[in-house]
Amino acid sequence: MLTNTAKFNAAESDHDHIEIKPSVLYVGTPLVLITSLNSDGTTNISPMSSVWALYDRVVPGLTSTSKGRENLLRERQLVLNFPSPELWPKVEAIAPTTGRDPVPPHKEKIGYRFEADKFDVAGFTPQPADLVRPLRIAECPIQFEAEVVAAHPPGAEWPSERPEAFSIIEAMVLRVHAHKNIVVAGTNHIDTSGWSPLFYVFRHYFGTGPDLGRTFKAER
Ligand SMILES: Cc1cc2nc3c(=O)[nH]c(=O)nc-3n(C[C@H](O)[C@H](O)[C@H](O)COP(=O)(O)O)c2cc1C
Repeated sequence: MLTNTAKFNAAESDHDHIEIKPSVLYVGTPLVLITSLNSDGTTNISPMSSVWALYDRVVPGLTSTSKGRENLLRERQLVLNFPSPELWPKVEAIAPTTGRDPVPPHKEKIGYRFEADKFDVAGFTPQPADLVRPLRIAECPIQFEAEVVAAHPPGAEWPSERPEAFSIIEAMVLRVHAHKNIVVAGTNHIDTSGWSPLFYVFRHYFGTGPDLGRTFKAER
């Protein structure tokens, strides 16, 4: 019986990993456009991609100086709008913008500007939500209406040289909207042959490749 080390040493495949120090750890997560309510009743859009889901909870991470985080913590309501790959130029059109006025200095330094109406800048169509006040983005094929149930700070002491920390937002999904073209007719299932998320991978935009197979739990 070979030990794990012996197995590794005996393996003929290429294991030539090298240590690197990447500036970001964005291996690849779906892009989400979070809509949140400004204090004047208008809707802000925050592009983000650090998000995961379990049961009825979605957990986005938002930096402390973003307008989106400020709005979520005050209003406790949001919509998570999931764009498809062809929408990436619209996402990129609002990437260097913030709903914060004045723009936080560390963002101003790298070219961010204030925009009061990101729907207009991106060319997105506002669509009323059913249960929450922030508007949905009509072009996004999947939309989750949600409410904030908890917000957690970073777990370890945050390094003082970092310009901003973040909040881990726990949101409960209240209603899911899916465009009829990506729903298997007469069911609650997404037709995965018709839906592809837009992914953020080491600061590049990607769509998905072909379906590689299904997990044993897949219902369709
Ligand atoms: C593709 C992409 C992914 C991003 N992911 C995140 C993220 O996961 N969390 C975050 O706080 N900011 C993320 N950002 C940066 C925010 O979009 C940025 O802070 C922006 O100012 C938020 O808008 P707001 O200040 O109006 O809320 C991302 C930006 C882009 C373009």
